[in-house]
Amino acid sequence: MRVAPSVIAANFSKFQEEIKKVEEASADLLHLDVMDGVFVPNITFGPLIVKAINEITDMELDVHLMIVKPEKYLRQFIEAGADWISFHAEATEKTDECIKIIREQNKKVGLAISPPTPFDRVKKYVDKLDFILIMTVNPGFYGQKFLPEILKKIEQTRDWIVIHKPDCLIQVDGGINSRNVVELDRAGVDIVVAGAAVFKSDDYEKAIKDLKCLKV
Ligand code: DX5
Ligand code: ZN
Repeated sequence: MRVAPSVIAANFSKFQEEIKKVEEASADLLHLDVMDGVFVPNITFGPLIVKAINEITDMELDVHLMIVKPEKYLRQFIEAGADWISFHAEATEKTDECIKIIREQNKKVGLAISPPTPFDRVKKYVDKLDFILIMTVNPGFYGQKFLPEILKKIEQTRDWIVIHKPDCLIQVDGGINSRNVVELDRAGVDIVVAGAAVFKSDDYEKAIKDLKCLKV
């Protein structure tokens, strides 16, 4: 299991230190939640902060855009240093155009779906994706409770991907911890995003190791 700590759960007054700590703890990717206060009821940060983070870490940046009309901003986030970018299917009418923009810049492209959105709605795009991001909470805030009913959607996605596009990774995001990760691992998830489970723990290294499902 690959682990992507989500910085919105970090202590922003000690930002650089927090990022170094997860890097040293072998986090695989750094997950950056971009929220616009329109698509989701919260506001975080934009490309300027992504660029600053890119300057202080060697980790690959996994930018999760929770913004309306992502097609307008993709290039800015790529220029700022995003290596992996996901945008929400619910937030744009131009999914093909978004995929094309990200692909042309040779970045990893992911399509995100919120809990109410069925996998069937995005199936037709999977062929062009590097990863699909299945939200396991309603997007907007860290520290929410994992929605167990999404497990069925994850399994359905995996069953389809295994046959039609085996190199498309499955990423899940929201309420993931050292307990429910076991089930997600079994369900075929490749990457877990974790905010509170890492940054609100006493020992980041142990938290990340547990999420990687490594037997200690
Ligand atoms: C939710 C964000 C998640 C969140 C994860 O809208 O997309 O990335 O920060 O945090 P936890 O793991 O605490 O749910
Ligand atoms: Zn996220």
